Amino acid sequence: MKCWKAALASATLTPMLEIEHLSLSIPSASGPKPAVSDVTLSLESGRVLGLVGESGCGKSITAQTILRLGEHQGIERTEGTVKLDGQDIFTMQESELRVLRGGRISMIFQEPMTALNPVFSIGAQITEVIRLHLDLTKRKACERAVSLLTDVGLQQPEQLLRQYPDSLSGGMRQRVLIAMAMAADPDYIIADEPTTALDVSVQARIIDLLRKLQREKGLGMLLVTHDFGLVAELADDVAVMYAGHIVEYGSVEAIFDHPTHPYTRALMDCRPEAASRGTPMPAIPGQVPAPGAWPAGCRFAPRCRWADAACEQPVEAEAWHHGGHWARCIHVAKSTKPLELTE
Ligand SMILES: Nc1ncnc2c1ncn2[C@@H]1O[C@H](COP(=O)(O)OP(=O)(O)OP(=O)(O)O)[C@@H](O)[C@H]1O
Ligand SMILES: [Mg+2]
Repeated sequence: MKCWKAALASATLTPMLEIEHLSLSIPSASGPKPAVSDVTLSLESGRVLGLVGESGCGKSITAQTILRLGEHQGIERTEGTVKLDGQDIFTMQESELRVLRGGRISMIFQEPMTALNPVFSIGAQITEVIRLHLDLTKRKACERAVSLLTDVGLQQPEQLLRQYPDSLSGGMRQRVLIAMAMAADPDYIIADEPTTALDVSVQARIIDLLRKLQREKGLGMLLVTHDFGLVAELADDVAVMYAGHIVEYGSVEAIFDHPTHPYTRALMDCRPEAASRGTPMPAIPGQVPAPGAWPAGCRFAPRCRWADAACEQPVEAEAWHHGGHWARCIHVAKSTKPLELTE
Protein backbone atom coordinates (compact mmCIF):
# COMPACT_ATOMS: atom_id res chain seq x y z
CA MET A 1 0.00 0.00 0.00
CA LYS A 2 1.33 3.47 -0.84
CA CYS A 3 2.27 5.47 2.28
CA TRP A 4 -0.44 8.11 1.82
CA LYS A 5 -3.01 5.30 1.46
CA ALA A 6 -1.79 3.77 4.73
CA ALA A 7 -2.02 7.18 6.42
CA LEU A 8 -5.55 7.64 5.13
CA ALA A 9 -6.62 4.17 6.17
CA SER A 10 -5.34 4.72 9.71
CA ALA A 11 -7.06 8.10 9.89
CA THR A 12 -10.25 6.47 8.45
CA LEU A 13 -10.84 9.50 6.26
CA THR A 14 -12.76 9.37 3.01
CA PRO A 15 -10.42 10.60 0.27
CA MET A 16 -11.95 13.78 -1.02
CA LEU A 17 -11.28 16.28 -3.75
CA GLU A 18 -12.74 19.68 -2.93
CA ILE A 19 -12.95 22.75 -5.14
CA GLU A 20 -13.98 25.80 -3.12
CA HIS A 21 -14.98 29.21 -4.50
CA LEU A 22 -12.63 28.76 -7.45
CA SER A 23 -12.31 31.66 -9.88
CA LEU A 24 -10.05 31.60 -12.93
CA SER A 25 -8.89 34.11 -15.51
CA ILE A 26 -7.77 33.50 -19.08
CA PRO A 27 -5.21 35.56 -20.98
CA SER A 28 -6.34 37.98 -23.69
CA ALA A 29 -4.78 40.84 -25.68
CA SER A 30 -6.38 43.31 -23.28
CA GLY A 31 -5.20 41.45 -20.15
CA PRO A 32 -6.63 38.63 -18.01
CA LYS A 33 -10.37 38.07 -18.31
CA PRO A 34 -12.54 36.25 -15.78
CA ALA A 35 -13.59 32.88 -17.22
CA VAL A 36 -14.73 30.87 -14.19
CA SER A 37 -16.21 32.31 -11.01
CA ASP A 38 -16.96 30.96 -7.56
CA VAL A 39 -17.11 27.26 -8.44
CA THR A 40 -17.57 24.98 -5.43
CA LEU A 41 -17.71 21.23 -6.03
CA SER A 42 -16.58 18.14 -4.20
CA LEU A 43 -15.81 14.65 -5.37
CA GLU A 44 -15.73 11.58 -3.16
CA SER A 45 -13.97 8.37 -4.06
CA GLY A 46 -16.35 5.87 -5.60
CA ARG A 47 -18.66 8.54 -7.05
CA VAL A 48 -18.98 10.10 -10.49
CA LEU A 49 -19.70 13.82 -10.80
CA GLY A 50 -20.87 14.94 -14.25
CA LEU A 51 -19.93 18.52 -15.21
CA VAL A 52 -22.17 19.57 -18.10
CA GLY A 53 -22.74 22.69 -20.13
CA GLU A 54 -22.41 24.17 -23.59
CA SER A 55 -19.13 24.85 -25.33
CA GLY A 56 -17.11 27.68 -23.80
CA CYS A 57 -18.74 27.53 -20.33
CA GLY A 58 -15.41 26.84 -18.60
CA LYS A 59 -15.70 23.08 -17.95
CA SER A 60 -12.26 22.10 -19.26
CA ILE A 61 -10.28 24.91 -17.66
CA THR A 62 -11.96 24.09 -14.32
CA ALA A 63 -11.06 20.39 -14.72
CA GLN A 64 -7.48 21.14 -15.82
CA THR A 65 -6.96 23.43 -12.84
CA ILE A 66 -7.42 20.45 -10.51
CA LEU A 67 -4.02 19.30 -11.83
CA ARG A 68 -2.73 22.88 -12.31
CA LEU A 69 -2.42 22.15 -16.01
CA GLY A 70 -3.59 25.50 -17.38
CA GLU A 71 -0.89 27.64 -15.77
CA HIS A 72 1.59 27.43 -18.65
CA GLN A 73 -1.19 28.74 -20.96
CA GLY A 74 -1.75 31.76 -18.71
CA ILE A 75 -4.89 30.40 -17.02
CA GLU A 76 -4.65 31.77 -13.50
CA ARG A 77 -6.45 31.13 -10.28
CA THR A 78 -7.74 34.45 -9.00
CA GLU A 79 -9.61 33.08 -5.98
CA GLY A 80 -10.43 29.86 -4.18
CA THR A 81 -8.77 26.56 -3.40
CA VAL A 82 -8.54 23.01 -4.73
CA LYS A 83 -7.84 20.55 -1.93
CA LEU A 84 -6.98 16.88 -2.07
CA ASP A 85 -7.51 15.22 1.29
CA GLY A 86 -7.22 18.66 2.88
CA GLN A 87 -4.01 19.75 1.09
CA ASP A 88 -4.29 22.78 -1.17
CA ILE A 89 -2.80 21.88 -4.56
CA PHE A 90 -1.75 25.50 -5.06
CA THR A 91 0.75 25.12 -2.21
CA MET A 92 2.27 21.92 -3.66
CA GLN A 93 5.91 21.76 -4.78
CA GLU A 94 6.84 20.42 -8.25
CA SER A 95 7.75 17.03 -6.72
CA GLU A 96 4.32 16.79 -5.06
CA LEU A 97 2.62 17.81 -8.30
CA ARG A 98 4.36 14.96 -10.13
CA VAL A 99 2.85 12.51 -7.64
CA LEU A 100 -0.52 14.23 -7.94
CA ARG A 101 -0.62 14.13 -11.76
CA GLY A 102 -1.19 10.58 -12.84
CA GLY A 103 -0.39 9.20 -9.39
CA ARG A 104 -3.36 10.34 -7.32
CA ILE A 105 -5.43 11.92 -10.11
CA SER A 106 -5.31 10.91 -13.78
CA MET A 107 -6.75 12.66 -16.77
CA ILE A 108 -8.33 11.18 -19.90
CA PHE A 109 -8.47 13.70 -22.71
CA GLN A 110 -10.91 14.06 -25.56
CA GLU A 111 -8.56 13.47 -28.48
CA PRO A 112 -6.66 10.17 -28.16
CA MET A 113 -4.34 10.85 -31.11
CA THR A 114 -2.97 14.13 -29.78
CA ALA A 115 -2.60 12.72 -26.27
CA LEU A 116 -0.30 9.93 -27.56
CA ASN A 117 3.13 10.66 -29.02
CA PRO A 118 3.27 9.29 -32.59
CA VAL A 119 7.04 8.66 -32.53
CA PHE A 120 7.11 6.32 -29.52
CA SER A 121 5.71 2.81 -29.31
CA ILE A 122 2.72 2.12 -27.07
CA GLY A 123 5.03 0.05 -24.84
CA ALA A 124 7.53 2.92 -24.41
CA GLN A 125 4.75 5.37 -23.53
CA ILE A 126 2.88 3.18 -21.11
CA THR A 127 5.97 1.87 -19.28
CA GLU A 128 7.27 5.44 -18.95
CA VAL A 129 4.09 6.41 -17.07
CA ILE A 130 4.30 3.28 -14.92
CA ARG A 131 7.96 3.86 -13.99
CA LEU A 132 7.35 7.56 -13.29
CA HIS A 133 4.95 6.63 -10.52
CA LEU A 134 5.88 3.13 -9.39
CA ASP A 135 9.28 1.83 -8.35
CA LEU A 136 9.39 -1.07 -10.84
CA THR A 137 12.11 -2.63 -13.00
CA LYS A 138 11.70 -2.41 -16.77
CA ARG A 139 10.56 -6.03 -16.91
CA LYS A 140 8.00 -5.58 -14.12
CA ALA A 141 6.76 -2.38 -15.79
CA CYS A 142 6.24 -4.34 -19.05
CA GLU A 143 4.30 -7.00 -17.17
CA ARG A 144 2.14 -4.29 -15.59
CA ALA A 145 1.60 -2.71 -19.02
CA VAL A 146 0.38 -6.06 -20.38
CA SER A 147 -1.99 -6.47 -17.46
CA LEU A 148 -3.34 -2.89 -17.83
CA LEU A 149 -3.93 -3.36 -21.57
CA THR A 150 -5.74 -6.62 -20.81
CA ASP A 151 -7.89 -4.85 -18.18
CA VAL A 152 -9.06 -2.33 -20.77
CA GLY A 153 -10.08 -5.12 -23.13
CA LEU A 154 -7.24 -4.98 -25.67
CA GLN A 155 -6.31 -8.24 -27.40
CA GLN A 156 -2.72 -9.47 -27.85
CA PRO A 157 -1.25 -6.91 -25.46
CA GLU A 158 2.40 -8.09 -25.87
CA GLN A 159 2.19 -7.40 -29.59
CA LEU A 160 0.44 -4.08 -28.99
CA LEU A 161 3.35 -2.84 -26.88
CA ARG A 162 5.54 -2.85 -30.01
CA GLN A 163 3.00 -0.94 -32.14
CA TYR A 164 2.83 2.83 -32.76
CA PRO A 165 -0.29 4.97 -32.17
CA ASP A 166 -1.05 5.55 -35.86
CA SER A 167 -1.55 1.80 -36.43
CA LEU A 168 -4.41 1.75 -33.88
CA SER A 169 -8.07 2.65 -34.33
CA GLY A 170 -9.54 5.60 -32.36
CA GLY A 171 -11.25 3.24 -29.93
CA MET A 172 -8.03 1.28 -29.32
CA ARG A 173 -6.09 4.49 -28.71
CA GLN A 174 -8.65 5.66 -26.19
CA ARG A 175 -8.36 2.27 -24.43
CA VAL A 176 -4.56 2.71 -24.33
CA LEU A 177 -5.03 6.17 -22.77
CA ILE A 178 -7.43 4.74 -20.21
CA ALA A 179 -4.83 2.02 -19.42
CA MET A 180 -2.19 4.75 -18.99
CA ALA A 181 -4.53 6.70 -16.73
CA MET A 182 -4.91 3.58 -14.55
CA ALA A 183 -1.15 2.88 -14.52
CA ALA A 184 -0.41 4.17 -11.02
CA ASP A 185 -3.69 3.06 -9.48
CA PRO A 186 -5.10 6.59 -9.02
CA ASP A 187 -7.99 7.54 -6.73
CA TYR A 188 -9.54 10.01 -9.14
CA ILE A 189 -9.98 10.24 -12.89
CA ILE A 190 -10.82 13.41 -14.74
CA ALA A 191 -12.41 12.39 -18.03
CA ASP A 192 -12.83 15.39 -20.33
CA GLU A 193 -15.22 14.44 -23.16
CA PRO A 194 -13.79 10.89 -23.15
CA THR A 195 -15.97 9.62 -25.99
CA THR A 196 -16.64 12.71 -28.14
CA ALA A 197 -13.95 11.95 -30.73
CA LEU A 198 -15.07 8.33 -31.19
CA ASP A 199 -17.55 6.63 -33.51
CA VAL A 200 -20.94 6.06 -31.93
CA SER A 201 -20.50 2.27 -31.90
CA VAL A 202 -17.14 2.61 -30.10
CA GLN A 203 -18.50 5.20 -27.65
CA ALA A 204 -20.84 2.69 -26.02
CA ARG A 205 -17.99 0.23 -25.42
CA ILE A 206 -15.73 2.91 -23.93
CA ILE A 207 -18.58 4.02 -21.63
CA ASP A 208 -19.02 0.39 -20.49
CA LEU A 209 -15.29 0.16 -19.84
CA LEU A 210 -15.17 3.40 -17.84
CA ARG A 211 -18.17 2.30 -15.78
CA LYS A 212 -16.60 -1.11 -15.09
CA LEU A 213 -13.21 0.32 -14.05
CA GLN A 214 -14.76 3.08 -11.96
CA ARG A 215 -16.91 0.61 -10.01
CA GLU A 216 -14.28 -2.12 -9.66
CA LYS A 217 -11.61 0.26 -8.41
CA GLY A 218 -13.91 2.59 -6.46
CA LEU A 219 -12.58 5.61 -8.35
CA GLY A 220 -13.90 9.11 -7.96
CA MET A 221 -14.53 10.49 -11.45
CA LEU A 222 -15.12 13.99 -12.75
CA LEU A 223 -16.86 13.47 -16.08
CA VAL A 224 -16.74 16.61 -18.23
CA THR A 225 -19.21 16.48 -21.07
CA HIS A 226 -21.91 18.27 -23.02
CA ASP A 227 -23.69 14.92 -23.45
CA PHE A 228 -26.57 14.30 -21.03
CA GLY A 229 -26.79 10.72 -22.32
CA LEU A 230 -23.30 10.04 -21.00
CA VAL A 231 -24.18 11.68 -17.70
CA ALA A 232 -27.24 9.44 -17.37
CA GLU A 233 -25.05 6.37 -18.01
CA LEU A 234 -22.22 7.18 -15.63
CA ALA A 235 -22.86 9.98 -13.15
CA ASP A 236 -24.14 9.88 -9.56
CA ASP A 237 -24.26 13.67 -9.22
CA VAL A 238 -24.48 16.46 -11.78
CA ALA A 239 -23.23 20.06 -11.83
CA VAL A 240 -24.60 22.21 -14.66
CA MET A 241 -22.21 24.97 -15.69
CA TYR A 242 -23.16 28.11 -17.58
CA ALA A 243 -20.95 31.11 -18.39
CA GLY A 244 -18.26 30.25 -15.87
CA HIS A 245 -20.33 29.25 -12.87
CA ILE A 246 -22.54 26.43 -11.60
CA VAL A 247 -26.24 27.11 -12.11
CA GLU A 248 -27.68 23.82 -10.84
CA TYR A 249 -26.43 20.90 -8.80
CA GLY A 250 -28.08 17.68 -7.70
CA SER A 251 -28.13 13.91 -7.84
CA VAL A 252 -28.52 12.45 -11.31
CA GLU A 253 -32.09 11.44 -10.42
CA ALA A 254 -32.95 14.96 -9.22
CA ILE A 255 -31.51 16.59 -12.34
CA PHE A 256 -33.22 14.19 -14.76
CA ASP A 257 -36.55 13.94 -12.94
CA HIS A 258 -36.75 17.61 -11.89
CA PRO A 259 -34.46 19.78 -14.02
CA THR A 260 -35.05 23.11 -12.34
CA HIS A 261 -32.86 25.92 -13.66
CA PRO A 262 -34.20 27.21 -17.00
CA TYR A 263 -30.76 26.52 -18.53
CA THR A 264 -30.81 22.87 -17.44
CA ARG A 265 -34.32 22.53 -18.80
CA ALA A 266 -33.27 24.10 -22.11
CA LEU A 267 -30.28 21.70 -22.34
CA MET A 268 -32.58 18.76 -21.62
CA ASP A 269 -34.97 19.87 -24.35
CA CYS A 270 -32.04 19.90 -26.81
CA ARG A 271 -31.06 16.26 -26.23
CA PRO A 272 -31.29 14.24 -29.45
CA GLU A 273 -33.61 11.76 -27.72
CA ALA A 274 -35.96 14.63 -26.75
CA ALA A 275 -36.34 15.74 -30.39
CA SER A 276 -39.27 14.48 -32.45
CA ARG A 277 -38.48 12.46 -35.55
CA GLY A 278 -38.52 14.54 -38.75
CA THR A 279 -38.22 17.91 -36.96
CA PRO A 280 -35.00 19.96 -36.74
CA MET A 281 -32.88 19.43 -33.61
CA PRO A 282 -33.90 22.07 -31.08
CA ALA A 283 -31.20 24.55 -30.02
CA ILE A 284 -31.08 27.21 -27.28
CA PRO A 285 -31.38 30.58 -29.01
CA GLY A 286 -28.41 32.94 -28.62
CA GLN A 287 -24.91 32.16 -27.42
CA VAL A 288 -22.94 31.66 -24.23
CA PRO A 289 -21.53 35.11 -23.35
CA ALA A 290 -17.76 35.41 -23.82
CA PRO A 291 -15.56 35.31 -20.71
CA GLY A 292 -15.66 38.65 -18.95
CA ALA A 293 -18.77 39.76 -20.86
CA TRP A 294 -21.27 38.27 -18.42
CA PRO A 295 -24.47 40.16 -17.57
CA ALA A 296 -24.42 41.68 -14.07
CA GLY A 297 -27.56 39.78 -13.04
CA CYS A 298 -28.49 36.23 -14.02
CA ARG A 299 -26.00 35.23 -16.73
CA PHE A 300 -28.60 33.13 -18.55
CA ALA A 301 -31.27 35.89 -18.54
CA PRO A 302 -30.63 37.14 -22.12
CA ARG A 303 -31.50 33.64 -23.42
CA CYS A 304 -34.15 32.72 -20.88
CA ARG A 305 -37.83 32.65 -21.80
CA TRP A 306 -38.83 33.42 -18.20
CA ALA A 307 -36.47 36.38 -17.69
CA ASP A 308 -37.87 39.70 -16.46
CA ALA A 309 -36.59 42.82 -14.70
CA ALA A 310 -35.97 40.86 -11.47
CA CYS A 311 -33.28 38.85 -13.29
CA GLU A 312 -31.10 41.96 -13.63
CA GLN A 313 -30.04 41.48 -10.00
CA PRO A 314 -27.18 39.06 -9.18
CA VAL A 315 -28.50 35.72 -8.00
CA GLU A 316 -26.93 33.47 -5.38
CA ALA A 317 -25.85 29.90 -6.11
CA GLU A 318 -28.38 28.22 -3.86
CA ALA A 319 -31.22 30.68 -4.44
CA TRP A 320 -33.52 27.66 -4.64
CA HIS A 321 -32.68 24.45 -2.81
CA HIS A 322 -34.40 21.24 -1.88
CA GLY A 323 -32.17 18.82 0.05
CA GLY A 324 -28.90 18.56 -1.86
CA HIS A 325 -30.50 19.81 -5.08
CA TRP A 326 -30.08 23.54 -5.79
CA ALA A 327 -30.51 26.05 -8.60
CA ARG A 328 -29.30 29.62 -9.19
CA CYS A 329 -32.60 31.16 -10.35
CA ILE A 330 -34.59 33.92 -8.73
CA HIS A 331 -37.87 32.68 -10.22
CA VAL A 332 -37.61 29.10 -9.08
CA ALA A 333 -36.46 30.52 -5.71
CA LYS A 334 -40.01 31.83 -5.29
CA SER A 335 -41.36 28.31 -5.73
CA THR A 336 -41.38 25.68 -3.03
CA LYS A 337 -40.95 22.77 -5.43
CA PRO A 338 -38.95 22.27 -8.62
CA LEU A 339 -40.64 22.80 -11.97
CA GLU A 340 -43.11 25.49 -10.98
CA LEU A 341 -42.19 27.65 -13.95
CA THR A 342 -45.02 27.44 -16.42
CA GLU A 343 -44.66 27.63 -20.19
N1 LIG B 1 -5.46 28.73 -23.09
C1 LIG B 1 -6.46 29.59 -23.25
N2 LIG B 1 -6.21 30.88 -23.56
C2 LIG B 1 -7.22 31.77 -23.70
N3 LIG B 1 -8.53 31.44 -23.57
C3 LIG B 1 -8.84 30.17 -23.28
C4 LIG B 1 -7.82 29.18 -23.11
N4 LIG B 1 -8.43 28.00 -22.81
C5 LIG B 1 -9.76 28.23 -22.81
N5 LIG B 1 -9.99 29.54 -23.10
C6 LIG B 1 -11.33 30.17 -23.15
O1 LIG B 1 -11.94 29.97 -21.88
C7 LIG B 1 -13.34 29.72 -22.03
C8 LIG B 1 -13.68 28.40 -21.38
O2 LIG B 1 -13.04 27.38 -22.13
P1 LIG B 1 -13.20 25.82 -21.82
O3 LIG B 1 -12.28 25.11 -22.74
O4 LIG B 1 -13.04 25.58 -20.37
O5 LIG B 1 -14.71 25.57 -22.25
P2 LIG B 1 -15.54 24.20 -22.23
O6 LIG B 1 -16.74 24.43 -21.37
O7 LIG B 1 -14.64 23.09 -21.87
O8 LIG B 1 -16.02 24.10 -23.75
P3 LIG B 1 -16.03 22.84 -24.77
O9 LIG B 1 -17.33 22.12 -24.48
O10 LIG B 1 -16.01 23.49 -26.11
O11 LIG B 1 -14.83 22.01 -24.51
C9 LIG B 1 -13.62 29.74 -23.54
O12 LIG B 1 -14.08 31.03 -23.89
C10 LIG B 1 -12.26 29.50 -24.16
O13 LIG B 1 -12.15 30.10 -25.44
MG1 LIG C 1 -13.87 21.46 -22.95
